[in-house]
Amino acid sequence: MDFVDLRSDTVTVPTPAMREAMAAAPVGDDVMGEDPTVNALEARVAQMLAKERALFVPSGTMANLLAVVSQTRPGDSVILHQDAHPYVYESGNLAMVAGVLVSPRPGACGLLDPDDVAAAIVRNADHHRSNTTLVMIENTTNRGGGAVYPLATVEAICERAHQQGLRVHCDGARIFNAVVASGTPVRAYARPVDTISFCFSKGLGAPVGSILAGEADVIDRAHRYRKMLGGGMRQAGILAAAALHALDHHIDRLADDHARAAAFLHALTDRGIAAPLPAPTNIVFFDMPDAAAAAARLAEEGLRVGVTAPTRLRAVFHLGIDDQGLARAIDALRAL
Ligand SMILES: Cc1ncc(COP(=O)(O)O)c(C=O)c1O
Repeated sequence: MDFVDLRSDTVTVPTPAMREAMAAAPVGDDVMGEDPTVNALEARVAQMLAKERALFVPSGTMANLLAVVSQTRPGDSVILHQDAHPYVYESGNLAMVAGVLVSPRPGACGLLDPDDVAAAIVRNADHHRSNTTLVMIENTTNRGGGAVYPLATVEAICERAHQQGLRVHCDGARIFNAVVASGTPVRAYARPVDTISFCFSKGLGAPVGSILAGEADVIDRAHRYRKMLGGGMRQAGILAAAALHALDHHIDRLADDHARAAAFLHALTDRGIAAPLPAPTNIVFFDMPDAAAAAARLAEEGLRVGVTAPTRLRAVFHLGIDDQGLARAIDALRAL
């Protein structure tokens, strides 16, 4: 069956134009620093974000992990949201690889509250305690329904953290969804944080790849850890070319995904289906008494959605869904 696939914005496949850009990319050995397309991508992103350096990595998971290992020491503690991707969905790598203690915090829609962050920081108090050295924010939030941080909140969190000598990493896997939805320039989101990462392989529609940016010495450490973890990729310019193409052609169109997500949310509530979170960007959650059974029924109607909890489903809009796909998705809701 030809499914409308709303399980994730990672299911996109490269467009014909993206494939052409990939095929035409000049490449070299990036582990030797000689891939001109990777070098061009890293320079462009560093410039876009006004950070000293950027590092192309295979995944968002690796970008987050490198941000942590490069800015903490084993035994330190890291403040993040209790729904944050690295806490919930990155296989415990912060414990196993970074050796840090996590301090998970609550907050509406996956967003941290500056006062709560400040209260959770433990600094050089007594030797019984783990020293907090990093705060991680997620913009937009995945499990928070694609919520967007107001810039003022990011700035307040960073101010509180920096006052006490902590660093701040932004997991901006979907930062351009935040940029398009809020009108806040990406540089403004990048400025107060010490490191920021984003993914090319989600709404931007590239097949593989994420990037981490920050000061040169932090990115230099991250580069060493990337190698240590097996993330050095050789002729990666083929992937970097897809990423460059995505930056040129797939940012502004995220607004279409947001509009379709809003229409889908509307269709759900029209049918009396509970949508527990607002959907300001491309991620829509909805609740059914038996989420797995509901997903199976929708699949019979040609619609794939994700199951994120026994009673919760998720639909994510992306490059592969046009208005016809939206109409089919809404039509499939009849089954519920
Ligand atoms: C907010 C967030 N951070 C990080 C990641 C990890 O990205 P990857 O799947 O490329 O490892 C994801 C993936 O969905 C995500 O949603």
